[in-house]
Amino acid sequence: MIRIGLIGAGRIGQIHGRNLATQLPGVRLAAVADLDRAAADSLAERYAVPLVTGDPHELLQDAELAAVAICSPTDTHAGLIQQAAAAGKHIFCEKPIDFDLARIDQTLAAVQQAGVKLQIGFNRRFDPNYRKVRDLVREGRIGEPHLLRITSRDPGPPPLEYLKTSGGIFLDMTIHDFDMARFLIGSEVEELYVAAAVRVDPQIGELGDLDTAVITLKFENGVIGTIDNSRKAAYGYDQRVEVFGSLGMVATDNETPDRHRLADGTGIHGPLPLHFFLERYQTAYLEEMRSFVECLRTGKPPEVSGADGRAPVAMGLAAQRSYRENRPVRLDEVEG
Ligand SMILES: NC(=O)c1ccc[n+]([C@@H]2O[C@H](COP(=O)([O-])OP(=O)(O)OC[C@H]3O[C@@H](n4cnc5c(N)ncnc54)[C@H](O)[C@@H]3O)[C@@H](O)[C@H]2O)c1
Repeated sequence: MIRIGLIGAGRIGQIHGRNLATQLPGVRLAAVADLDRAAADSLAERYAVPLVTGDPHELLQDAELAAVAICSPTDTHAGLIQQAAAAGKHIFCEKPIDFDLARIDQTLAAVQQAGVKLQIGFNRRFDPNYRKVRDLVREGRIGEPHLLRITSRDPGPPPLEYLKTSGGIFLDMTIHDFDMARFLIGSEVEELYVAAAVRVDPQIGELGDLDTAVITLKFENGVIGTIDNSRKAAYGYDQRVEVFGSLGMVATDNETPDRHRLADGTGIHGPLPLHFFLERYQTAYLEEMRSFVECLRTGKPPEVSGADGRAPVAMGLAAQRSYRENRPVRLDEVEG
């Protein structure tokens, strides 16, 4: 039995908590910590978790835990990863690792020194649709890739309270698309250019954040990509990718609860996309955790490494600079 502790029992913590407690044979959700004790209590009660605490440090002292899943707000990740590594725990941590590259490097060094595994929560890599696209691109089925297009629009913005510590749209939301871009093309981005605005909610602008963006990417291997983001799509969660190459094109459409088409005198109608990340990426969340547990069992390295966690943060910082200075920014400009 592999015993795993959960730190942070909010939106994403509840998903990982349920998967660890009920979906993975040979795994026990053995501890839950949340500064909000009521959130920890409620999750622990649901799954009969033996150790419940309002203090993550108490959880890390539990010698029986092989690993922890860190699902607390982003500004706590680097500190908790370092503490978990020092306690000899393997680590699954939600994205992003941190907003600061030097702090990420310090954190990854601590993980390496402790000799523990670290997997970052880029769940979309485990979605069967994107995985298939990646595999077909890798196998050369579309020939030489030329263009990448990622559409990633949320059904609605998160609470303003969440946005305050989120790091802004590029490090909170686009970061998944930056990871997807690297995953699908298998090459690093060397330069990007951003056009962005506040089009959804002026309160987001008042926080100094943005809610609408187009990002142009130039990859080292010559591919050109675009990402378009909105914090609010009236028809729900819009998550599509397309890779175009010398021999063809591969794309995925949105997932819907069913596939019906209703035709009547006003038009042809179908169901809306699955509403948001909880529904759309249910399989991906389970598969990423299954993969993490498999690494603990077999000793193989995690599929989403610390370096994979770092690269999209560098892209997010370059995107912030591109927006501020209204010019293309090379990735090496944020490295130094
Ligand atoms: N991979 C994904 O699809 C995905 C989706 C949503 C959120 N996230 C990431 O997960 C993290 C959490 O996001 P969320 O939406 O679940 O936030 P949330 O605000 O819903 O939940 C965070 C929880 O952590 C608790 N908390 C705060 N500080 C803590 C600490 N020091 N120790 C323990 N618990 C603490 C809070 O009380 C809260 O219950 C963020 O980093 C976010 O970027 C990832």
